[in-house]
Amino acid sequence: MTKKTTILAIETSCDETALALVQKQADEISVLDSRLASQVNVHALTGGVVPNIAAREHATALPILLKDMIDQHNLSAKSIDAVAVTVGPGLQPALAMGVTTARTLAFAWQKPIVPVHHIEGHIYSALLQGEIMFPALALIVSGGHTLLIHMTNHLQYRVVGSTRDDAAGEVFDKVARLLGLAYPGGSALSRLAEPGKAEAFSFPRPMIHGYDLDMSFSGLKTAVLYQLQKMTATEITAQKADLAASFQQAIVDTLTTKVKKALERYPARVLLVAGGVAANEKLRQALQTVAHGHHLPLRLAPLSLCGDNAIMIGQVALFAFERGRQNRWQDIDAQARIDLSLFSRHDWRSDSTADSEQNRTTKLST
Ligand code: KG4
Ligand code: ZN
Repeated sequence: MTKKTTILAIETSCDETALALVQKQADEISVLDSRLASQVNVHALTGGVVPNIAAREHATALPILLKDMIDQHNLSAKSIDAVAVTVGPGLQPALAMGVTTARTLAFAWQKPIVPVHHIEGHIYSALLQGEIMFPALALIVSGGHTLLIHMTNHLQYRVVGSTRDDAAGEVFDKVARLLGLAYPGGSALSRLAEPGKAEAFSFPRPMIHGYDLDMSFSGLKTAVLYQLQKMTATEITAQKADLAASFQQAIVDTLTTKVKKALERYPARVLLVAGGVAANEKLRQALQTVAHGHHLPLRLAPLSLCGDNAIMIGQVALFAFERGRQNRWQDIDAQARIDLSLFSRHDWRSDSTADSEQNRTTKLST
C-alpha cells in the first residue's frame, strides 16, 4: 500500500485564521478537518484590514483552533508528516503569527515545514476540482491580487499578467464603499447589481486594447467616483443598482478580455479561476463562455474555497512535500512580498547546507 502523507496547514496572511488537516495517499486527497475564524466583522469597523489588529486577532484565535484540532484528532509527531504554512505574500504581522506557530509545531514535533505561497493555494483550489491537466491558465482574482498564471506542471508557475495598481477585489471594495456598503463590499455590491442595467453607465475597461496582459483598475474606481460627484444624492439612490451593475460589467469585461488574450498566447488544456472575486456570479458566467469558446474545461474554485482558507494551503503542500519542498523550522520566515516564481523550485529541501545557503540568498534578494 502506498504511504499516506498527513499535513497540518496554517493560513494567516490576511483576515482569516485558518487551519486544515489534509491527507494524500497515491492520487487520493482528503480533507480530514478544517477550521476558520473570520475577522471580517472586526475589520468592518475600520473599513479595511489594519495589519496589527489582524495579527492580534490571529494571536487570539490560533491557539484555540489549534488546541481543538490537536485534541479532536489526537495529533502528535506520530500522526503528522509535516506542517504547512503560508509564508507570503500578505500582511507581515499577520503572516508572522502563522509562521511562528508553524515553526513552533515543527520544532516540537521534529517535522519539516512546507512553505506555501498564498497564490499557489488559490490556484490549487481550482486545479483540484477535476482531472488535473497541464498546461493550465489560472486567473486569480482576490482582494490583494489580480494575476494570470501559466502552469506547465505541478508547482511550475509563470506569471504572465498582473495588475499594475489596485487588485480587482480591492476595487470592488472601494466602489462598494463609495456606494455606502460595508467592508468588504464585493459580494454586497454584486447583490446590489442584480436588478441593475449593466449598460446604464459607460465606465472604462482599462488597457484592454493592447497586446499586454497586465491590468489596471484604479482608473475605473476614479471613473465611478467622478460619476458619483456629478449626481445628487437622490439620483444616486435611484440609480445605485445601475451604477453597481455597470461597474461590475466593466471589471468582468476587462478580466475576460485579458483571459482571452492569454489563451491566444499560451497553450492551455484547462482554465482555472479562483480567489475571493471568483465568487462573483457574473464573472463565473462570463468565463464559462470564454472557456466554451476555446473548447476548454473551466475549473472554478467552489464558493466555499474562493475566500482564504487553509485547505488550499494544505493541498499545495501535499504536492510540494512529495517533490522535496521540506524545510527546517529554522529556515522559514514570513515574507510580506515574495515572488511566486521562487516556489517553482523543487529543491526547497534545506537539510543540506548548500540548499540552505541557496534558499537564504534567494530570500535576501527578494
Ligand atoms: O481571496 P480573498 O478572500 O482574500 C484575499 O486574499 O484578498 O478575497 C477577498 C475579496 C474581497 O475584496 C471581496 O470583496 C471579494 O473578494 N469578493 C467579491 C465577491 N465575494 C468576495 N467580489 C466580487 N463579487 C463577489 N461575489
Ligand atoms: Zn487570498
